[in-house]
Amino acid sequence: MRHRVLRVGEVESTNRYAVDRFEELPHGLAVVADRQTRGRGRLERSWSSSVAGNLYASLVLKLEPERQARLPPGFPNLTQYMAVVLARVARGLGAEVTIKWPNDLLAGGRKVAGILAEAVSAPGRVRGAVVGAGVNLAMREEDLAAIDQPAASLNLVLGRAVERDAFLEAVLDEFFTGYPAFLESGFPSIRPEFLALTPMLGRQISVNSVRSRIAGTACDVTAEGSLVVLTPQGRVTLTLGDVQ
Ligand code: BTN
Repeated sequence: MRHRVLRVGEVESTNRYAVDRFEELPHGLAVVADRQTRGRGRLERSWSSSVAGNLYASLVLKLEPERQARLPPGFPNLTQYMAVVLARVARGLGAEVTIKWPNDLLAGGRKVAGILAEAVSAPGRVRGAVVGAGVNLAMREEDLAAIDQPAASLNLVLGRAVERDAFLEAVLDEFFTGYPAFLESGFPSIRPEFLALTPMLGRQISVNSVRSRIAGTACDVTAEGSLVVLTPQGRVTLTLGDVQ
């Protein structure tokens, strides 16, 4: 399968680039940078983006006009779909990656990829989304040490080089093969695979969300992709947060 890829060299952020030009860019385009000067992460963090050879890519996903006022079932879970896609491709290369809810990819408990989706809206409707993925493919140990959280890189996990463009092509093949069906069926269609990739269930966790910190046992991921935590005060269902 051939895909439309726009190589932008160095930019502030591929998500920013695609959101700013959303109307003029075609559906399905992947915007790929060699480096980002202000890579964006979840929860208003930054994403370390100075190493060329890593993947910094954002997909332009437009909705048909008739779906813009009533969103398709899979739309709210695009980041989790992308996490499963990245896990399939990384596992296909031999890396034993897992998913940390909601959508981080870990190798040996360290973060190897992150995903950030941004909806693009117009008055009364959602035009679509930009889904960005940052995957560490070409880091050295000293690059990882400079990141403010435990991080991994697929080249080091596998003990061999991982070529960025081949990795991207595999991601785009996997993503777009299942995308129309995922949009229509939503998170339940990937839930069994997501659960199998998520080893945190049954474990004691704490979750920092925007306003609070919750501690308890991770016990389920719902049909909507939310995390259920059993706390001394009862069951709490979370739609976003940072699991420790
Ligand atoms: C996270 O915090 O885990 C999400 C990180 C997402 C990083 C990617 S790199 C490509 C795209 N452009 C950005 O600015 N962010 C995403």
